[in-house]
Amino acid sequence: MDFENKTVIVTGSARGIGREIALKFGAEGAKVVVFDINIEGQADTAQAVCDEIKALGGDAKYYLGDVSKPEDTDALIKFAKDEFGSIDVIVNNAGITRDNLIMRMSEADWDAVLSVNLKGAFNVIKSASRTLMKQRCGVIINMASVSGVMGNAGQANYSASKAGLIGLTKSVAKELAARNIRCNAIAPGFIETPMTGKLPENIQQAYKEAVPLKCFGQVEDIANLAVFLAGDKAKYITGQVINVDGGLVM
Ligand SMILES: NC(=O)c1ccc[n+]([C@@H]2O[C@H](COP(=O)([O-])OP(=O)(O)OC[C@H]3O[C@@H](n4cnc5c(N)ncnc54)[C@H](O)[C@@H]3O)[C@@H](O)[C@H]2O)c1
Repeated sequence: MDFENKTVIVTGSARGIGREIALKFGAEGAKVVVFDINIEGQADTAQAVCDEIKALGGDAKYYLGDVSKPEDTDALIKFAKDEFGSIDVIVNNAGITRDNLIMRMSEADWDAVLSVNLKGAFNVIKSASRTLMKQRCGVIINMASVSGVMGNAGQANYSASKAGLIGLTKSVAKELAARNIRCNAIAPGFIETPMTGKLPENIQQAYKEAVPLKCFGQVEDIANLAVFLAGDKAKYITGQVINVDGGLVM
């Protein structure tokens, strides 16, 4: 159990990739803060993730809020410190899509995606920065996307937010390296989750055809890398973007 007594915050961890990352850290003995948006029924969903983590040998508490609101991310960091004492790993995973062709994309959809995907990660990192710098250690992992690396028609807002996350990752890596804080990004390709499940069947098939390994990724493919990047085996890796995409980007 590599993460015993370590506190791990995972945003957007009520479901999908974030949930699997939270479970994997839990299985490594971590104290996990499950953070997700406060919508109807979410408290029960988040509590169920916490119960699963405890069954795996970790500890967990949930906190609900919106990553795009600085007051919520300040409250999240305070909650993690009050409940578990330190902050060792932050996974900025919360993300949304509002896909459309650029000529039809509303300003509201542009703003919503940038606010959650890019500003959300900035908010969490800023809220945690004083604590991490004082500790002189910490790991930040930002969930980017292949769309941010290679662009994607119909996803101008999403691709821009994920490309922005990559710039944020490299800047934070440079700015905080002297305090022994590492920051990396994971760029998933097509991973089977509720987010991708809503895409039309023909788009899913076209995507599968384009992937050299000819299959979709699974949530554990991303979670395994997140745990590796957060651990001592990755202690000399910072400022990197690692694609997990079946060979789509090479
Ligand atoms: N699934 C894929 O193929 C894929 C590919 C590349 C990148 N990603 C990225 O991985 C991350 C997770 O994706 P997923 O497929 O599991 O998505 P998902 O929609 O299944 O889960 C996203 C989670 O984030 C939460 N969330 C949304 N807005 C939030 C907010 N404002 N504050 C707090 N939480 C919020 C949601 O409630 C949800 O639980 C996202 O950043 C996504 O962009 C996914």
